[in-house]
Amino acid sequence: MTKISVSIVNVTSYSGLELLRLLSQHPHFEVKSVTARSAAGQRLYDVFPQFCAGLKRHGGISSGFDPALVITNEPDKVDLAFVCLPHAAAAASVVSLLERGTKVIDLSADFRLRDAAVYQEWYKLAHPAPALLETAAYGLCERYRERIAVATLVANPGCYATAAILGLMPAVAARVIGTDLIIDAKSGLSGAGRSPTLSTHYAEANEDVCAYSLSGHRHLPEISQELMAAALAEGNPLNQPPRITFIPHLVPMTRGLLATCYADLQQDAQGHVLTGAEVRELYETYYAGEPFVHIVDQPPHTKWTYGSNNCFIYPTVDTRTGRLVVISCLDNLVKGASGQAIQNANRLYGLPETCGLSPMSINP
Ligand SMILES: NC(=O)c1ccc[n+]([C@@H]2O[C@H](COP(=O)([O-])OP(=O)(O)OC[C@H]3O[C@@H](n4cnc5c(N)ncnc54)[C@H](OP(=O)(O)O)[C@@H]3O)[C@@H](O)[C@H]2O)c1
Repeated sequence: MTKISVSIVNVTSYSGLELLRLLSQHPHFEVKSVTARSAAGQRLYDVFPQFCAGLKRHGGISSGFDPALVITNEPDKVDLAFVCLPHAAAAASVVSLLERGTKVIDLSADFRLRDAAVYQEWYKLAHPAPALLETAAYGLCERYRERIAVATLVANPGCYATAAILGLMPAVAARVIGTDLIIDAKSGLSGAGRSPTLSTHYAEANEDVCAYSLSGHRHLPEISQELMAAALAEGNPLNQPPRITFIPHLVPMTRGLLATCYADLQQDAQGHVLTGAEVRELYETYYAGEPFVHIVDQPPHTKWTYGSNNCFIYPTVDTRTGRLVVISCLDNLVKGASGQAIQNANRLYGLPETCGLSPMSINP
């Protein structure tokens, strides 16, 4: 099979770097073009010796990428581009790539929200390409794998959104919980990206934990949109958007994201409230056959996910309060970004979703 040529737009971002690492082992995609403003004109091995030294010594590899690739300002003509830019800059790049006939997986938030007015409310700017919102597929394979397979533009979900949606979707879709939801989430610092800021400065972040975006994190409308869509798809439409309190925290680790979600269990028409065992069965059935979502029988650790595309979910019932508690965790740079992007790319090209994605994490 001829290799599918791909571009990583903004390879100097953390998600771009992670794509390079993951794609180096992919049997069907070959990185033919990489862009970045600050590194344009340099070769990959000059900028990332940690990745490329071994490959260079062995004269390159037959799959993945050539470590001598020159980083450019604009992507070359390729089959597929992964866009790893901040929002707004991403939309401009996506539009020009699509015009050239390139399929795109956008890792930014620009095409995740279906309603341009909601985008404007949360991102404080008019949507740069509203016409594309209708055709963009939300890149959560666990919900939209058929739509993704025929898309030209895939909006890769946010990292917090992926953990929270996967954690709550089975219970919301089955309407076994009320619509008051609390999501208490913690992320490692790479979730904030590679550009240095005061809050990600070592002396500030090390040995510190703090909450942020209490007035509303931008992943909240995405979570709300997708939980409503999941309930509708199961024939259980919500009468109104869920009331979500979503509080993210920065914790002093490099990767990993853990979301603990709470909701009141509600009675069904017969007055029955799900037991812990029934909740677990609901989740196991919902995710049966999913290659990357694993229902586990103990609270998962972020370390379990380090470097892998897995999402571990532990659903349980707090019998004293009648609350559902779901703990969901993943690697923000893999299932929360670049691994999920490759899972989507595999769908776009009719490959098994697991293609090129090792099930193994790094441990300890
Ligand atoms: N980090 C995560 O865990 C994560 C997870 C899911 C989704 N995302 C999303 O994925 C996208 C990339 O995130 P990231 O965290 O990987 O990026 P990042 O590490 O924050 O990328 C930083 C780099 O982006 C470039 N850049 C910044 N502003 C730019 C602009 N206006 N135009 C062009 N280049 C610009 C700069 O590189 P140069 O100076 O070299 O050009 C900068 O060094 C974002 O939209 C983010 O929201 C991130």
